[in-house]
Amino acid sequence: MEFLPVLAGEVTGNPERPGVPTLGEYTAGQLRRLCEVASLDADDARTYTDVLVEALGPEAGRRLDLPPSGRTFLSDDHTPVEYSLSFRPDGPPDLRVLLEPGCGTDGLEENGRAGLDAVHGMSRRWGFSTTWLDKLEDLFLPQAPQGPLALWCALELRPGGVPRVKVYLNPAARGAGRAAETVREALDRLGHQWAYAALPPGDGHPFFALDLGDWERPRVKVYVRHPGLPATAAGDLSRMPAGPTAAALREFAATAAGSPDARLSGLPVLSCHAFTDPAEDRPSGFTLHIPVRDYARHDGEALDRAVALLGRHGMDPAPLLRALPSLTGRRPQDGVGLIAYLALAHQRGWPPRLTVYLSAEAYAVRPPSG
Ligand code: TRP
Repeated sequence: MEFLPVLAGEVTGNPERPGVPTLGEYTAGQLRRLCEVASLDADDARTYTDVLVEALGPEAGRRLDLPPSGRTFLSDDHTPVEYSLSFRPDGPPDLRVLLEPGCGTDGLEENGRAGLDAVHGMSRRWGFSTTWLDKLEDLFLPQAPQGPLALWCALELRPGGVPRVKVYLNPAARGAGRAAETVREALDRLGHQWAYAALPPGDGHPFFALDLGDWERPRVKVYVRHPGLPATAAGDLSRMPAGPTAAALREFAATAAGSPDARLSGLPVLSCHAFTDPAEDRPSGFTLHIPVRDYARHDGEALDRAVALLGRHGMDPAPLLRALPSLTGRRPQDGVGLIAYLALAHQRGWPPRLTVYLSAEAYAVRPPSG
């Protein structure tokens, strides 16, 4: 992928400190503006921007005219931060932020260590247990781990200043060839002996995720990669009882990818399967992730699709329209990748949600493709 660097003069840094902002200043500014979009108050915004800057560690102080110190694949331009707005029919969207705490470290092993330290710090601060993570440390954070990530964490920014925490781990940490075995063993240790057999076929597992913190029903989530999937085949991926219909999934994939007969042969579609109750052998949640940035010429097109999907699901697109200019001064049609993924999420007991993943683009913008 080719990228154009973001020019220092274009970035909206801290007005009290003109010049080139740091990664921390830049992303904190974005997050503060997104908090407003998501109807969080100024106290929460202050708390959460501080949490973000702290979680990024020393990397937060790095000026943006220097290249990122690591090559994280959390985002295409290697910004170690990504935002998402998760929409529901009734009320403002939930704002989340995904980040790599170890982004400034040298090597994956140290990266994982910094990630663990950050999560343990959060568990002390907000009083949640890390038992699940501790049980799996040797599987996902071994000595001499392999790529492409060690540990990411996502914070769901609720009103009140205490986020819900999710941790993302790498099934290939002990080697890509052992990823399936690693996922199976991890599910086993958490009591989900039957879960692995319930997953749809695919080409490997990019992530294994855990809910930590104050969740009503914490989930264990397994991601499956589906390279070259025809949009029509998206209908067959859910294994959740009483989950989304095949027609609804097909329609979502076709709209997000821009054509009903598209084969998604660029970045792969991901499916995510959530397990909550060890007594059940089927997932209680299903999410379909479409990497819209590889199937749109520019973000104007990706935005139109997102707005259409939100409308169809009875959700107000206004916060999304306000979110884009709170992240960047560029016009949507002048780049692609600001909208990274569109996802349709079903979890038993909740209405379906539509999630839009938004890039920080702190370092570079991918030019439009036509
Ligand atoms: N950038 C990575 C990817 O595209 C990881 C990632 C970031 C991701 N945000 C995501 C994956 C949202 C799925 C959904 O795969």
